[in-house]
Amino acid sequence: MDYVESKIKNKFSGKVLLAASLAALCIIALIQSPNISSPNELSHRDIGIMHVLVTGGAGYIGSHAALRLLKDSYCVTIVDNLSRGNLGAVKVLQELFPEPWRLQFIYADLGDAKSVNKIFAANAFDAVMHFAAVAYVGESTLDPLRYYNNITSNTLVVVEAMAAHGVKTLIYSSTCATYGEPEKMPITEKTPQAPINPYGKAKKMAEDIILDFSKTSDMAVMILRYFNVIGSDPEGRLGEAPRPELREHGRISGACFDAALGIVPGLKIRGADYNTADGTCVRDYIDVNDLVDAHVKALAHAKAREVGIYNVGTGKGRSVKEFVEACKKATGVDIKVEYLSRRPGDYAQVYSDPSKINRELNWTAQYTDLQQSLQIAWTWQKLHRNGYGTGS
Ligand SMILES: NC(=O)c1ccc[n+]([C@@H]2O[C@H](COP(=O)([O-])OP(=O)(O)OC[C@H]3O[C@@H](n4cnc5c(N)ncnc54)[C@H](O)[C@@H]3O)[C@@H](O)[C@H]2O)c1
Repeated sequence: MDYVESKIKNKFSGKVLLAASLAALCIIALIQSPNISSPNELSHRDIGIMHVLVTGGAGYIGSHAALRLLKDSYCVTIVDNLSRGNLGAVKVLQELFPEPWRLQFIYADLGDAKSVNKIFAANAFDAVMHFAAVAYVGESTLDPLRYYNNITSNTLVVVEAMAAHGVKTLIYSSTCATYGEPEKMPITEKTPQAPINPYGKAKKMAEDIILDFSKTSDMAVMILRYFNVIGSDPEGRLGEAPRPELREHGRISGACFDAALGIVPGLKIRGADYNTADGTCVRDYIDVNDLVDAHVKALAHAKAREVGIYNVGTGKGRSVKEFVEACKKATGVDIKVEYLSRRPGDYAQVYSDPSKINRELNWTAQYTDLQQSLQIAWTWQKLHRNGYGTGS
C-alpha cells in the first residue's frame, strides 16, 4: 500500500469512526426517555452543524419547521409530549432523514422542569425554536389555567433551561392574538399589545418573560408573531392533523376540509354581524411554508444581546366568506354554510403590516394565492382522512 492510499484509508477510517461515534451517541439519545441517568452530550458544534431543539415538533407548524431545518442541513431534536401532535409526523421525518445524528425525537412534557433540564444537559443545543403550546382561542376562554400553565409557565421552564445550559438563541412562536383587537389596521410591531383572551394573554406574558430575561443576558432572541397559518408541505409529506376532539375549537381550514370530506355536514361560521365589509371576520392567512422560511431567516439573523420582534403575515386581510369561496374552489365541493352567533374571544379584523420582516430579514410571503395553498393542503387531507393514521 503506498503512502497516498494509506492516507486516504486513514482519513476514511477516521470519518467512519466519527460517524460511528456520532451514531452511537445519537442512538443513546434517541431511545432516551427524559430520565437519562448519565448525561451524554450530543454536540454537533465540533463538526460545524447547528443543532436546533424544536419543541412541539410533532405538531403542525413544528413538523414543517423541522422538515425545513433538516432539508437545510441542520440537526434537529424534537421534544413533544404528543398531547396534540402526531408521532406519524415524526415518523415521516425519520424516514426522510434516517441518519440518527440528524434527527432525534424525545417524548417529554415541557411542564416537567427536571426532564427538560436533563434533556438540555444531555444535548448541546445551539438554538431553540419553541413551538410547543396549546393554541386555540376558544378553548382558552373555557380552560384559561391550562393556557397560562402550558404557554406561560412552560416558556419559563424552557428559558430557565436555556440559561442554565448556555443555549444562546431562541426563536419564539408568538401570535397576533397578543395585539387583541387594535383599532388601527394593519398591525405593526409597534401596535400596543392588549390581548382579549387567555391564549393571547398567556403568549404576551411568555413574551414578557423572554424580553425581561434578554435584558440581563446575551441571548439572541427572535419573537415571531404569526397571523393565521394555513397550507402544508407542497410535496405532500406533512399536513395539519389536529385531534378529532379539538375539531369544535378548530381553525377554519380544518373545518372547511372536514365539511368537504363529509366528516361534518357543513361549515358553521360564527359571526356574520362584525363591522367588516361582508360581516364576517377578516384575517391574514399565512402559508406554513412561508412561516417556516421566516423562522430559518430569523435564525440566520439572530444576534447575541439583540431582540427582533416580527409580524409574520401577508399584509392582506381576507374575510371568512372569501376564505370559504376559495376553499370551495380548491376542494371542488359546494360546502354547506350555516351562520351562527359570534364565538367568545373573537375579534372582527386582524391583518399585518409585514414591512419590518420584509426589510430586516429579507423575507416576503411567496404563497399568497389562498386557493393554491388550500389546494395543496386539500391534497394531503384527501389522502389522510384520519390524519397520520392509527397510533399517530
Ligand atoms: N396554527 C396557527 O394558526 C398559529 C397562529 C399563531 C401562533 N401559533 C403558535 O404556533 C405554535 C405551534 O402551533 P401549531 O398550530 O403547530 O399547534 P399544534 O397543536 O399542531 O402543535 C403544538 C405541539 O406542541 C406539543 N405540546 C403541547 N404542549 C406540550 C408540552 N407541555 N410539552 C411538550 N409538547 C407539547 C403538542 O403535542 C403539539 O405537537 C404554537 O405556539 C402556537 O401558539 C399558531
